Amino acid sequence: MELGECTRNPGYRDSDGTVSAADTNTTVPEEKVDSTSVKLEQHPAEEKYMQFKPYAGMPKEVLLLYSSQARYRVTREIMFWLTVACTLALVAVTIAVIAMSPRCMGWWQTTPVYQVYPRSFHDSDGDGVGDLKGIQQKLDHFQYLNIKAVWISPFYRSPMKDFGYDVEDFRDIDPLFGTMKDFEELLAEMHSRDLKLIMDFIPNHTSDRHRWFNLSRTRDPHYEDYYVWTDCNASNPKPNNWVSIFGNSSWTYDEVRGQCYLHQFLKEQPDLNFRNPDVRQEIVDLIHFWLGKGVDGFRMDAVKHILEASHLRDEPQVDPNQPPETVTTEWDLHSDYTTSQVGLHDLLREWRAVIDTYSREPGRYRFLVTESYDYDEVWKTMMYYSTPLVKESDFPFNFYLLDLPQNTSGLWAKHLVHLWMGNMPKGKWANWVVGNHDRSRIASSAGQAYTRVINMLLLTLPGTPTTYYGEEIGMENINITESQVQDPAGKYNKSLSRDPERSPMQWSGDMNAGFNIKTNITWLPVHPNYESVNVEVQKEDEGSVLAQYRFLNTLRQSELPFLRGWFCYVHADANVFSYLRELDGLDRAFLMVLNFGKESVITDLSSVLELPDQLKVVMSTNSANNGKVLKKSQIMTEVGEGLVLQYSTGTRFNPNHPDQCYISEKACYMKVMDILYKC
Ligand code: GLC
Ligand code: MG
Repeated sequence: MELGECTRNPGYRDSDGTVSAADTNTTVPEEKVDSTSVKLEQHPAEEKYMQFKPYAGMPKEVLLLYSSQARYRVTREIMFWLTVACTLALVAVTIAVIAMSPRCMGWWQTTPVYQVYPRSFHDSDGDGVGDLKGIQQKLDHFQYLNIKAVWISPFYRSPMKDFGYDVEDFRDIDPLFGTMKDFEELLAEMHSRDLKLIMDFIPNHTSDRHRWFNLSRTRDPHYEDYYVWTDCNASNPKPNNWVSIFGNSSWTYDEVRGQCYLHQFLKEQPDLNFRNPDVRQEIVDLIHFWLGKGVDGFRMDAVKHILEASHLRDEPQVDPNQPPETVTTEWDLHSDYTTSQVGLHDLLREWRAVIDTYSREPGRYRFLVTESYDYDEVWKTMMYYSTPLVKESDFPFNFYLLDLPQNTSGLWAKHLVHLWMGNMPKGKWANWVVGNHDRSRIASSAGQAYTRVINMLLLTLPGTPTTYYGEEIGMENINITESQVQDPAGKYNKSLSRDPERSPMQWSGDMNAGFNIKTNITWLPVHPNYESVNVEVQKEDEGSVLAQYRFLNTLRQSELPFLRGWFCYVHADANVFSYLRELDGLDRAFLMVLNFGKESVITDLSSVLELPDQLKVVMSTNSANNGKVLKKSQIMTEVGEGLVLQYSTGTRFNPNHPDQCYISEKACYMKVMDILYKC
């Protein structure tokens, strides 16, 4: 073993500064001889080492000597295996933590979605129609409400036959609403305030003023088949019995082309032909266009109408004995060939896949909600959730609560809730809609008495609530005279007019309810109740609809049982609907007792053994009852009153009543570590 060179420490200097022998050449040969004769078993190097003391470092051969001694070797081995064990343990813990952690919730799950109808929200330039700048001026309102997602109904360039749902240019903003710059500024401002913007996307049809339609009717070779054309008789243009959603035949004869085109909505809204791959590509390009601009998601309009059967056969009549010439509305036909055709879900999956490519940036998940009214064919709606492996919408809109006013009772409320909960595929996320630009305001159809309890239901059910502008203050429908009708559906049949629920947002008691403070024009009349029903007044009143909305929304987002806990039916009768929200491992739970009925009642829940005897009113829609402690055998509610009751218990309700309980993704709370885990 040649160790001689290693025993030298040529750079060593004594503390007094004299250079060591190693530097002086005179002693080198001697030294070399000595050091080469090292014999490990006699420990001569050890002796040398002692001679050359002090050393700056331990030479290798000495190190080897010591290291082979049992006390070092064993210690070393122990340290080695300890390191291995710790590393493995750390890896295992990391894997376990990842595997045990419940999925983080998306922004579209934690916040309600607020629908802005841009014509009616806020008018910044005084032309009587709301606009994008107007929305930007009101962003504080969303922050005040703790709402983080805003869906804005269409603001594309449009001739406004269906107020924006007839799009002339999908890549441009209508001048009524502003410019592309206004849009970009609005989006940037929303993002800087941590607000998400969901756009309306209308794939089924365009405006008849769209460039594609003009090229199609003139048979430009590329655009010829962009729409659904068929031969027909010019004087009786009805190639089959299909009807428009707005009434009458869904076919219109086009003089330019000499054929009929299909329109499932207005004649100014020709249906695109999705059997044409070029059309499909156009739509994908548009999705890229808006996602590229940074929008956070889409509400896909009228999806069930996207495809229709190419055979164009008559649809079967609901009443086979009805004279065919009187078949004029969608209710007269089974829409077997005009809605939910095979291939529709493939299209949605394809669009979803495009959308998902934009969701890969951290914190930039892009969301998709589909609009389809399938009425009693619930399974058709549920199909938009798709399968666990192939995604379509994050959720299809749930419109069942829109039927609440049909029969205000606890049992009916439970029935409607259960239509969704009982049919939603396992593990999916629910959502609730109580109003939109197509349906009467619920405060009018159900009656003001129920406004608060409906908002309470909306914000305490499991899933994402949707709030149509004005619902947070209890806005009601306006009355419209024949001459005031704006909505094309209302021109067909006044009772179908959607104008009543589209009146200007009531911001204050000022002129035009603060909607337009520049001129005295509003595109629809302001509701006469605006002096008492408005944001400004309600902000000052702790018991207002607005204050309650805000409280409930904050409660929903701050209390785990509401956001990700179990939802269990507890009781339903002619008046009261009662359910609870609890999370395994968490002692704090909430019982909801909502009176949708026509009389004040005392509900006795003493048979519900899992509930403690005493329940505390965290919030009542009647603020006089806030803070009261109630006995579970005597829970008093007035008509339209809703209670959020908090209680503490170690006993969960869900294990004993699995058939009454739902959870989208199970999570348990671990008190000692204050964490959630999959369980
Ligand atoms: C959707 C919209 C509605 C519109 C229709 C046609 O149902 O919500 O307002 O008239 O599609 O685009
Ligand atoms: Mg269509």
